[in-house]
Amino acid sequence: MSEILDYKKKTKKSAKLFLASSKIHVNGVSHNIRFFEPYPFIVKSSSGKNLQDVDDNKYTDYWMGHWSLILGHGPKQVKDSLKKQIEKSWMYGTVNEQTIKLSELITKAVPVAEKIRYATTGTEATMYAVRLARSVTGKKIIAKIDGGWHGYTSDLLKSVNWPFTESESGGIVNEEKIISIPFNDLEKSLVILNKISTDLAGIIIEPVLGGGGCIPATQEYLKGLEEFAHKNNSLIILDEIVTGFRFRFGCLYPTINLDPDIVTLGKIVGGGMPIGVLCGKKEIMKFADTSGNKKSERAYIGGGTFSANPMSMTSGFATLSELKKSKNMIYPKINSLGKFARDELGKIFGSKVIITGKGSLFMTHFVSEGITEITNSAQAAKCDTKSLYNYHFKMIAQDGIFFLPGKLGAISNVHTKEDIKKIITATDNFEQARTSK
Ligand SMILES: Cc1ncc(COP(=O)(O)O)c(C=O)c1O
Repeated sequence: MSEILDYKKKTKKSAKLFLASSKIHVNGVSHNIRFFEPYPFIVKSSSGKNLQDVDDNKYTDYWMGHWSLILGHGPKQVKDSLKKQIEKSWMYGTVNEQTIKLSELITKAVPVAEKIRYATTGTEATMYAVRLARSVTGKKIIAKIDGGWHGYTSDLLKSVNWPFTESESGGIVNEEKIISIPFNDLEKSLVILNKISTDLAGIIIEPVLGGGGCIPATQEYLKGLEEFAHKNNSLIILDEIVTGFRFRFGCLYPTINLDPDIVTLGKIVGGGMPIGVLCGKKEIMKFADTSGNKKSERAYIGGGTFSANPMSMTSGFATLSELKKSKNMIYPKINSLGKFARDELGKIFGSKVIITGKGSLFMTHFVSEGITEITNSAQAAKCDTKSLYNYHFKMIAQDGIFFLPGKLGAISNVHTKEDIKKIITATDNFEQARTSK
């Protein structure tokens, strides 16, 4: 493949460094999804919409820090705030003013966030959400979605990848306490849920499947699950770690009239610094209050040495402040660029591809025989993922455009229509070369 040769030619220093990385890191990486064949380029800096690698190649980035960088890499407002904070110092290990400022912004924008606890990753936030749901309800089973991704917590590391029947890892105990249900299929989901309703602590779901294929849930599905959960004294945990502050200033759930018990946030609300946030109604979060409850009646949630550290709180506050101030410009702009990308890419590929997504998120699926729509992860998994990889890799090797191969793209406020047009041209070339073979 000429793309592989082109890539190897332009990433010689990366190749050497990745070899060094592989000697000391498992698979050469510190997050499984960051590896791609033949080796990932090594980044030395980033700015605005660009990543720059050690060979000085520039890539227009659509991975955008695991989709966390809605204002782009190193936006001035956030950088200035972080510089000021560094002067004051970067780790207190005590209650600090920066946390209160960020929480005041979140609580006003996210109605369910009557009480908040911080962690350092989204993984911890979902882990705590599960523990809290079990503690509040006194029940054990958590239902998740086939293809749902909530981070590396042992509690939810099951049914992530096709055929959704097993855990992603060894070392996980009590797997029978995690059950999975098919996304966007209320009837089948309710059949499964009905069988375990007496021990169902909660249902955790992303309103738009992120890692599972960039697929929005229908309102009917989400409402149906919520109704079932509340009828059976179980909790609804909405994982808005990707969707929170992505489509509007706030969460997605109020726009679909949901009434979740717990919402988890991360990514964008940390403005590129480590964060996980657990938001809940007062009557739920009071179970985490350590002042009165017996140990067996309360949940330990949030915490960790670096929870609510002043750097994350500062970058989160600066990011949300900018989003709030410019929400009437930023969201319409990035949402319409997302629509433009979906529409135009769809025109190039025609019926060979389905482009899923919402707002500024989009993902290309090369359909295999029999797939006519993508409304769940099973359909996404059955698509031709090799072609998707080739497509993304071609853009890395020849067009200076970076999607983490196989993953959805996220448009940030620093991307322009011209940038999307470059994807369209690169896609056109890819498709012409593919069809002329
Ligand atoms: C929906 C969702 N929940 C949770 C997580 C885990 O967050 P983190 O990677 O910060 O641990 C992710 C990460 O991609 C995610 O997409």
